Amino acid sequence: MAYDLVVIGSGPGGYVCAVKAAQLGLKVAVVEKRATYGGTCLNIGCIPSKALLHASEMFAHAAHGMDALGVEVSAPKLNLEKMMAHKDATVKSNVDGVSFLFKKNKIDGFIGTGKIVSAGKVSVTGEDGKVQELETKNIVIATGSDVAGIPGVNVEIDEKVIISSTGGIALEKVPQHLIVVGGGVIGMELGSVWSRLGAKVTVIEYLDKLLGGMDGEVSKQFQRMMAKQGMDIRTDAKVTGVEKTANGAKVTYEPVKGGDAQTLEADVVLIATGRKPYTAGLGLEEAGVKLDNRGRVEIDGHFKTNVEGIYAIGDVVRGPMLAHKAEDEGVAMAEIIAGQHGHVNYDVIPGVVYTQPEVASVGKTEEELKAAGIAYKVGKFPFTANGRARAMLATDGFVKILADKDTDRVLGGHIVGFGAGEMIHEIAVLMEFGGSSEDLGRTCHAHPTMSEAVKEAALATFFKPIHM
Ligand code: NAI
Repeated sequence: MAYDLVVIGSGPGGYVCAVKAAQLGLKVAVVEKRATYGGTCLNIGCIPSKALLHASEMFAHAAHGMDALGVEVSAPKLNLEKMMAHKDATVKSNVDGVSFLFKKNKIDGFIGTGKIVSAGKVSVTGEDGKVQELETKNIVIATGSDVAGIPGVNVEIDEKVIISSTGGIALEKVPQHLIVVGGGVIGMELGSVWSRLGAKVTVIEYLDKLLGGMDGEVSKQFQRMMAKQGMDIRTDAKVTGVEKTANGAKVTYEPVKGGDAQTLEADVVLIATGRKPYTAGLGLEEAGVKLDNRGRVEIDGHFKTNVEGIYAIGDVVRGPMLAHKAEDEGVAMAEIIAGQHGHVNYDVIPGVVYTQPEVASVGKTEEELKAAGIAYKVGKFPFTANGRARAMLATDGFVKILADKDTDRVLGGHIVGFGAGEMIHEIAVLMEFGGSSEDLGRTCHAHPTMSEAVKEAALATFFKPIHM
């Protein structure tokens, strides 16, 4: 039987595309190499890391956050095995959820390695070596990304001593000293987990700031907060070597601005220096599918590769490597294949770092607006002046809104603070509708909520906040 669509890869891009296409009446199959559906995000990425971030946050809160509220508890005891079991159960319920969605939507799932034989043909090689061939009108490549390693440095990741994020969510004991190479999203999230559970954490970052692409002010405040939580943060430092030793591993780094190399030893080293598109074994070269100079599948504005009937979405194509970006591309992709007009607004894709406090951002940073020569105004409001934040002892951080100087249209929003990852969405919705800071500032916000700080920052953008 011929399919309308075969999706290769069942991560957030692939499975969402498959479900949406089936909802639109197409006959769909998904090919997945892993034993379970859900890709990196559900199996070894977003979901398990959030289970550990939440659990470790509870642990840290029980140890340091309760006394000031008048709740006296004895020092919490860590049961890492149980914490990992919680993480595993969270993963299981999520990957089972994808299987359920496939069944519900009559999507055929094939476990095995997918390869594009030619336009219209995908082969699936099972664990037992048996090969099946699927005929299809359309193919969507949604194979995601893999650990990139450190550019120009030969590192052997064994997932025990020298680990990637995969090993970082599965350590059997809390390291005494964890060196994190790369102060991006993965480094700061997993660094937080192990720091809260008792590890000494040293972060070595090449740039002069953490969370590279984030708004400068946000990243400065974030660095101060992470240092206050006990992390040793070394910026402007380029890691040039990571080697195993008798007791752990040794990291060599050099000041970016010149100077002597230094070495640091630790029992575990986390490599968190980015991810790269994953296309190995897909048969792209044979099928004539073009890659760009960064190894990403080249697509046009409608996700189409240079070969008719073959499309690509998610981490394997241009744009931020974010699950929700892939999901939205999956929906748009399915709509396009079904003859509709799918579209993704790349100007309004939120980004969240799930540390405590969280960091969230949508739209342009101040640095981006400056570089683009756009005249803008800024409104800021700190959580120290928010009643709910005071009541919860969650006053770290602020909201920052950027709007066009002439039209007042909101161009970006940035939040550091407790619950930032939830609050950011009201700015995202506003931006989707082309709203102004005055629209946001004149929208009634429930009192007392953390979100009132968003309203106040909007008031500050077009006139003045009330509570400052
Ligand atoms: P990243 O690109 O966020 O950060 C990598 C960092 O490593 C950069 O700051 C870079 O300057 C630094 N670096 C590179 N070479 C170095 C060297 N030789 N020495 C020292 N530092 C060096 O990549 P990360 O954190 O590995 O994440 C990979 C992808 O996964 C990203 O696209 C990220 O957005 C995504 N992700 C998103 C999450 C979220 O949205 N909460 C969570 C986890 C990952």
